Amino acid sequence: MEVISNPSQVEIKKAAQALKDGHLVAFPTETVYGLGADATNEKAVSRVYSVKGRPTDHPLIVHISSINQLNKWAVDIPEYAIKLANKFWPGPMTLILKRSEIAKDFITGGQENVGVRVPSHPVALSLLSEFEKLGGLGIAAPSANKFGAVSPTYARSVYQEIGESLNQFDMVLDGGDCDVGIESTIISCLYETPFILRPGAITESDIQEISKVGAEKVLRRIMPKVSGSFARHYCPKSEVVLGQLPKAGDGYLALSTFSTPKGVIRLAAPESAEDFAKVLYKAFRKADDMGLKKIVVVPPSGKGICDAIFDRLVKASIRHVET
Ligand code: TXA
Ligand code: MG
Repeated sequence: MEVISNPSQVEIKKAAQALKDGHLVAFPTETVYGLGADATNEKAVSRVYSVKGRPTDHPLIVHISSINQLNKWAVDIPEYAIKLANKFWPGPMTLILKRSEIAKDFITGGQENVGVRVPSHPVALSLLSEFEKLGGLGIAAPSANKFGAVSPTYARSVYQEIGESLNQFDMVLDGGDCDVGIESTIISCLYETPFILRPGAITESDIQEISKVGAEKVLRRIMPKVSGSFARHYCPKSEVVLGQLPKAGDGYLALSTFSTPKGVIRLAAPESAEDFAKVLYKAFRKADDMGLKKIVVVPPSGKGICDAIFDRLVKASIRHVET
């Protein structure tokens, strides 16, 4: 696997060609790093599943360079979805829409709908437009981690997670630390109103500016197909505990306004909720690298991105109460 830091235009072109030739390219987005494959190439996509160890009925998000490409992948797009796309793309939002002919079962996990996103990271956008210049239609990219593990938010964590399974033709583009730090908001656009399948940096009140947000009973109906909605997800190896007092030797993640008790290992001291999201997974990895048994986390309180942080924290902590 070739790792390229701060890729130049020429290197991004090379990565686009590698994708077109059926190889895998991990690349930065503003949310987390993705493990990319040509979304129309069944063989390449099947490698994504095997590298991640992910069940094949869990659908992948197709990344495109702009809203102009949306019609290629989706049909019967509701007006509110177009409005959301116009407002929040490029950005940390995935729309679930009725699939077109080119969104095959190997992308959608056999479902009649497809997830689509335009990321805003300049390396991702440039890779997408170079790929489209070569005749590519979209890049399928799940987070570049093993199934169930924490998403990578910097390049080194990509090769720590999956480096062993990548071959000499695959590439990792290093574009620095991801700005948002947690995965995109996933919005189902299959009914009269949008509803949130996975909270993220585009918040419920952001969506409400465009449309009323839909009811929870509909959400339950399609939840099982969202792998991020499985209880055992986003888990570091260390045990994650919420809202306890940390003891000596514990890892500790809380806003900077909380002081660090004696003997406690401070993993990060973010200044704001946004900053908290950005450092969350890096703090988890730091605890794992240090071999800590326990991470005590004080979730930031408030609305907006705090909902998304809380969602990830609850999922990260659940593993340890399950059998
Ligand atoms: O921020 C992100 O969304 C990152 C970056 C790389 O774009 N990608 C990401 O992909 O988080 P992944 O595969 O790790 O998580 C995507 C989630 C999965 O839980 C998947 O099941 C769900 O989106 N998903 C994808 N397509 C779907 C569909 N058609 N219907 C329902 N859920 C879908
Ligand atoms: Mg993931």
